Amino acid sequence: MRGAKARDGANALWGGRFAGGPAEIMERINASIAFDKRLYAQDIRGSLAHAEMLAAQGIIARKDAAAIKKGLARVLAEIESGRFVFRRSLEDIHMNVEGRLAELIGAPAGRLHTARSRNDQVATDLRLWVRDAIDDLDRRMAELQRALILQAERHADAVMPGFTHLQVAQPVTLGHHMLAYVEMIGRDRGRMADCRKRANESPLGAAALAGTAFPIDRHRTAKALGFSAPMANSIDAVSARDFALEFLAACAISAIHLSRLGEELVIWTSAQFGFVRLSDGFTTGSSIMPQKRNPDAAELVRAKAGRALGALVALATVMKGLPLAYGKDMQEDKEPVFEAADTLALCLAACAGMVADMKPDRARLAAAAEDGFANATDLADHLVGAHGMAFRAAHHATGRIVKLAEARGCRLQDLSLTEMRAVEPRLTRAVFGVLGVARSVASRRSFGGTAPARVRAAAKAARRRFP
Ligand code: ARG
Repeated sequence: MRGAKARDGANALWGGRFAGGPAEIMERINASIAFDKRLYAQDIRGSLAHAEMLAAQGIIARKDAAAIKKGLARVLAEIESGRFVFRRSLEDIHMNVEGRLAELIGAPAGRLHTARSRNDQVATDLRLWVRDAIDDLDRRMAELQRALILQAERHADAVMPGFTHLQVAQPVTLGHHMLAYVEMIGRDRGRMADCRKRANESPLGAAALAGTAFPIDRHRTAKALGFSAPMANSIDAVSARDFALEFLAACAISAIHLSRLGEELVIWTSAQFGFVRLSDGFTTGSSIMPQKRNPDAAELVRAKAGRALGALVALATVMKGLPLAYGKDMQEDKEPVFEAADTLALCLAACAGMVADMKPDRARLAAAAEDGFANATDLADHLVGAHGMAFRAAHHATGRIVKLAEARGCRLQDLSLTEMRAVEPRLTRAVFGVLGVARSVASRRSFGGTAPARVRAAAKAARRRFP
């Protein structure tokens, strides 16, 4: 090959018909060991189950399986203690493990790959890895939910402005707002659980793509590895990556949810809002401006959603139009999966930390709820409820009263009854009873509404619903 140095020695694991080794650049583009070494534990788990099954089926000798088992335990110990030397020339984790096994136990190592291919092996490893990642992420999501629920219970009656279009809309409580995120994360957990169900089938024994002539027992290996069943079609088993795409989609959606929380924390901690204070542990100072408390973690959570979404787009693009069955393209599945899982795990931990530590400024929240005519809907509802007006007419009259207050530079409740009655003569003193923000939130008792009593009940229910 021009411009590339051919290397000596064909690959010991597949080099039977090769005279020379790969070009240096070929090795570089081909090798995945730099990242797929993260699959070592899953790879060894899969090999142990496979070897045990081969022996049980009489395909390899019991003593060979025993030697393989002992050898794999040593390989695992070497990797976990950091003594293992990963070799790029051995391409990937599968061949690194098998290569070391051969050094350790000799001939029996060569029997491990009977009735198996790296195609079903890698699919098995990655499914096991994704399953483990989902379990870890679920624990982290539950932790964030607990932090949010705790704040919701503490601040079930802390009135604050609710926003639509980031314009003051109606008063809500901080507890209610916290519980909105609990629901979002609850659905994120549901997506992960759904993904886990479909991912949890075993490709092992599909071999290269066609199955095998050896009398293997795929149900046995599936069971040993905790899969619900062997995958029904061997071609599908080695070519399917929709489990990874689903995982990435679930990660991306969750990261997007967290980015909204990050953004709100950024806004809420600004001097202009001053709604909450993050702890020192989750803020940084500025090297030039001594007054600064920058919400870096929240900003990074906001930004990192880009990585998770990028990972989804990357793998979807790899898979699009790819013919069945396995293609080396699919080696590109791992880095996005690792990247998304790592990113989401970190963002969940950062959010849990920020939320657990954050201190809302209740007085400031209440004062902000008084601004921006957040109680205008309450006035309109009062015109409907107390004076029998149609909502549209009430909306119109309220709009005119808001305009009046705006011109005066005051709140609705600061207008005199005479001023209000100039717009709507049916109004009485009773109107002042509905204009307070605490009364406003207390009145919103509909299911799923912001009334403190509702929020307390919802927080309690959330503890049960999201263990
Ligand atoms: N490292 C490969 C991957 O990640 C393993 C499967 C390779 N299979 C093959 N036929 N070359 O996809």
